[in-house]
Amino acid sequence: MSSFPTQAGGVPVLVLKEGSNRSRGREAQHGNITAAKIVAESIRSSLGPKGMDKMLADNFGDVTITSDGRTILDEMDIQHPAAKMMVEIAKTQDNEAGDGTTSAVIIAGELLSKAEELIDKNIHPTIIIDGYRKAAEKALETLEKIAIPVDLKSQDYLKKAATTSMGSKIVAEYKDYLADLAVKAMLAVAEKHDGAYKVDVDDVKVEKKTGESLRETSLINGIVLDKEIVHSGMPKRIEKAKIALIDASLEIEKLELDAKINIESPDQIEAFLKQEETMLKDMTNKILASGANVVVCQKGIDDMVQHFLARKGVIAIRRAKKSDMEKLAKATGAKIVSNLDDISPSDLGYAALVEERRIGGDKMTFIEGCKNPKAVTILIRAGTQRMTAEAERSIHDALCVIRDLIQEPKIVAGGSAPELEMASVLRKFAETMPGREQLAVRVFAEALESITVTLAENAGLDPVNILSELRARHEKGETWAGIEVLEGKVRDMSKVNIFEPLSVKKQIIKSANEAASMILKIDDVIAAGKMKGSPTPPGGGMGGMGGMGGMGGMGGYPGAGEY
Ligand SMILES: Nc1ncnc2c1ncn2[C@@H]1O[C@H](COP(=O)(O)OP(=O)(O)OP(=O)(O)O)[C@@H](O)[C@H]1O
Ligand SMILES: [Mg+2]
Repeated sequence: MSSFPTQAGGVPVLVLKEGSNRSRGREAQHGNITAAKIVAESIRSSLGPKGMDKMLADNFGDVTITSDGRTILDEMDIQHPAAKMMVEIAKTQDNEAGDGTTSAVIIAGELLSKAEELIDKNIHPTIIIDGYRKAAEKALETLEKIAIPVDLKSQDYLKKAATTSMGSKIVAEYKDYLADLAVKAMLAVAEKHDGAYKVDVDDVKVEKKTGESLRETSLINGIVLDKEIVHSGMPKRIEKAKIALIDASLEIEKLELDAKINIESPDQIEAFLKQEETMLKDMTNKILASGANVVVCQKGIDDMVQHFLARKGVIAIRRAKKSDMEKLAKATGAKIVSNLDDISPSDLGYAALVEERRIGGDKMTFIEGCKNPKAVTILIRAGTQRMTAEAERSIHDALCVIRDLIQEPKIVAGGSAPELEMASVLRKFAETMPGREQLAVRVFAEALESITVTLAENAGLDPVNILSELRARHEKGETWAGIEVLEGKVRDMSKVNIFEPLSVKKQIIKSANEAASMILKIDDVIAAGKMKGSPTPPGGGMGGMGGMGGMGGMGGYPGAGEY
């Protein structure tokens, strides 16, 4: 707060609103870097198959158990602006590649930590940023060079990459089984355009239901809705279903305004009710006239309409999610109708079977054998809700990895082999550069090696010995030398079936470098004063998470805890 300029005579000129907070120069940089480092530090221990899991409790007391980088950061109620940027990297990484969020954040944290050492040696941030940019380019070039092209005709590598991505999750015990489902699901929805495959993760519907075990997770050829059939008088199963998708309420709309109707005789009540019934019957008739025998409605369905439909042997489902309606439209070829007057036979979709089944105490509706065979659902089963939720996240990662590979069929081996190879190339590259930039490139190499160190530490191995052995091997040209943490040994990672898509690794470098550079460029942090009655606890907003790697201590760093 001492940073306001003062006029001659010592009278302060107030530029910022009272309560605003400002830190500049080294102080701002130090605050930002420290906050970002703390975020990276807090998820370090979850990297790799031997990583630990995190238990996160939100304001409502809901508990999430996960080892997924993005989820951890999302659930942490982070306040500091620079720390929030680290959360952003995890999001970018997740949206672009779907996997590698933990790695991206760890490397970014390390890049910042090393940059701070250089800044302390009086190297200007701009020089560091330049050096990092060149290093990142070289690293990406190296990745392209060492990547192994794969033939998608054999699903082998898709399966191996999916298995690797699930190997570092809580569901690892079932990784082979689940990876197999994920590969089948993605291949079912992939489309070939001009020789290239196009595939969207959202085309695979994922539903979850507590009960049984992960082993009972299954792939269904069609769409599964977490909805029951609305009326007990309706059939539970219809073959050759003609499906109407309706985005209109099948009820009498309630008036928005308060209106009063004075009724003076019982006849009037009767007429009134009759009128309602006629309107509802009218709705039903319009639907029946289209020839539909299954109705999926995005809004509510009046009891009377349910009753009329049941009498005609029609199945109805209400309050379907918008995303499900869209999936159903794509799968069955139906058009979503929003005005009942327009409904016609050509709007209906087709499925070989619509059936309600009891799954784990609840009823779900299965729509199978759709007109478009590219509609699949993975139905996750697991003993607890937390497990189904984590399985969903892990399957999401696997689906993304498969998508990445289908779109760019190149892989690298894991266990930090590519990171070490990049580091080794960067060290040689550094020698060709002028003095201070050289330092930046060197520390970039060290930041990449933090993945090796972290994998080893998390597996309870000695990182110093392992790193020096691996460095030496890469010097000798062993491109794929890495650490197999399940065995706890240095290995040729291309021989132990730990593979990851090239695009995930490339995105890690891009996201980490971008975030680190952005944070390094900031030399002035101006934060508006807190709103009165702000619910955030003091000390950096990590109030609910006292046990998480000391995040609550953010307030202890100069310039770091006042936002
Ligand atoms: N058996 C193994 N031995 C050694 N390293 C492995 C093995 N399996 C996976 N890895 C490595 O673990 C790292 C991935 O760990 P993890 O999945 O926890 O983090 P992430 O992919 O960076 O982030 P997230 O999955 O949380 O988005 C990769 O570097 C991968 O090569
Ligand atoms: Mg992963």
